[in-house]
Amino acid sequence: MPYLPEVKTEALRTLPGVKELLEAVADRPGTYLVGGAVRDLMLGFAQFDYDLMVEGDAGEVAELLADRIGGTVKRHPRFLTANFRSTDGSLSIDVASARTETYSEPGALPEVEPADLEHDLVRRDFTVNAMALAIWRERFGELFEFPDASADLLARVLRVTHDRSFIDDPTRLLRLLRYGARLGFTAEPHTEELARAAVEAGAPSTVSGGRIRDELLDLLAERSAVVGVESMYALGLDRALHPKFDADEYVVARATNEQVDGLRQELLLLALCSRAMDEPTLAEWLDHLKLPRRDADIVAEAVVRGATLLPELAASESNAAVDSLLRPLHAETIVFALALPGGDRETADLARLWLTERSGGKLEISGADLRDAGVGEGPIIGRALAETLEATLNGEISGREAQLSFALTQARSDV
Ligand code: CTP
Repeated sequence: MPYLPEVKTEALRTLPGVKELLEAVADRPGTYLVGGAVRDLMLGFAQFDYDLMVEGDAGEVAELLADRIGGTVKRHPRFLTANFRSTDGSLSIDVASARTETYSEPGALPEVEPADLEHDLVRRDFTVNAMALAIWRERFGELFEFPDASADLLARVLRVTHDRSFIDDPTRLLRLLRYGARLGFTAEPHTEELARAAVEAGAPSTVSGGRIRDELLDLLAERSAVVGVESMYALGLDRALHPKFDADEYVVARATNEQVDGLRQELLLLALCSRAMDEPTLAEWLDHLKLPRRDADIVAEAVVRGATLLPELAASESNAAVDSLLRPLHAETIVFALALPGGDRETADLARLWLTERSGGKLEISGADLRDAGVGEGPIIGRALAETLEATLNGEISGREAQLSFALTQARSDV
């Protein structure tokens, strides 16, 4: 197993909660940081979503964390994993035993068997996620990698670790687009070919709606979601998910250009790409995705009300009429309407003005503040900002500092 001994680990020690984490596992050989945290550390990004891989029992390491830091442990023996959550909710760490995975049928959840580190790296999605950093004292900082993983990271390339990857787990098609959008990495030609073949073979239909939802919303929550949406269309993945799901980069770009506080971007974009569906088809699709009731209501309202909103607004004859039309609606519905082609500019500006006045610049933090504090990209950011705006509008908090601390608490308890 090749390893590169000189990874810069100083940055790791400064991340929230890591000092305690390292103390807890210092005497536990075979404990590694894996996946996105290692990738991002090498790219120089902060993360506070730590995944650990251990040779041996994941539950035992989660218990070490609980003893040292204080908190609770949940074991998932069927998957050889455990989760540790600190008492104050600020740290949530997934621990997995090194394993092999076999798929009884395409798209099914895997059967897992304990294995060594080498096999554990092979079973992962992309080489850039197949690196493990030793974090126990004796071998602290040694990096173990799937062959050429760090070379792929330097070359900014996404490469599957084996040819069946997208067939075994078609959610990786969405992950491919997400990492492409977020990191600006490109799929190497053979991986691209395998992705195309998996879409053409109908692989996405073998996965449960709930698993599609998680990855789809993560993709749509990216700051550069428009890049992912464009690739989704190019790959034909949108229509493979649902014949009426249309990854329309133009409306998505228009929506993401609107500057509106506290929006759930992923729900807004889901609504825009689902806008060709009639009401019953939309309800079935959201049900298939197992979208929580509250989120499904936001999407359905946007699709059903958004299409006719600007003409209705244009016909409103007083400020009171504008207010009573827009106030009951989610902000996502209003931005949905603004993103559709063909609205007249004056009415659109009226809607924008109303949105600005509604939040009144009350949110003094942005997604960038949360990212700087180590919150990874994803729907967590939108949810935390939306909760913070609501708490501010309700008078529960005020001022930038209180908002930042409220939003970080929300984000950290939402992993
Ligand atoms: N993984 C995988 N296939 C999947 C999901 C996850 O191989 N369908 C592996 C990858 O090695 C990934 C790790 O499990 O790095 C953890 O998954 P996740 O927490 O979803 O991603 P992160 O590594 O944290 O990366 P991100 O920054 O995208 O959250």
